[in-house]
Amino acid sequence: MNESAYDTLVAAATAARERAYVPYSGFAVGAALLGESGRVYRGCNVENVSYGLSSCAERNAIFAAVGDGERRVTAVAVVTDAPTPTPPCGACRQVLLEFAPDGNMDVVLATTAGARRVTRLSTLLPESFNSFTADR
Ligand code: THU
Repeated sequence: MNESAYDTLVAAATAARERAYVPYSGFAVGAALLGESGRVYRGCNVENVSYGLSSCAERNAIFAAVGDGERRVTAVAVVTDAPTPTPPCGACRQVLLEFAPDGNMDVVLATTAGARRVTRLSTLLPESFNSFTADR
């Protein structure tokens, strides 16, 4: 993926972040995914008074993508206002992997202040348990 495609995803994730519902943590996260179809899907974190039912931006974005018919996601951008770019939590890494065989997904981590780091899902989740591993 090229730099301008990253820009598009980061802009979409930044917009999604504005809609985060975070009355408990105050930590707003926006995510945007690029599906194989070329469509972009957004998600923000949505918290709940029960805390444990809160849902991360990345998972909300991937569920939106899959619900729209995508089965393969090639890139994700995550935006926060933390001082350094925020990598996805472990649960979200595993859920992203389901739709990116072998961790073949660009992960663009950005901050609202303009910091940016690009990595790969295979780097963030090495030696993963995946559908191939689970084949019996
Ligand atoms: N959060 C995300 O949305 N994505 C992550 O990868 C890490 C954490 C959310 C969950 C919670 O609403 C807030 O950030 C603080 O943990």
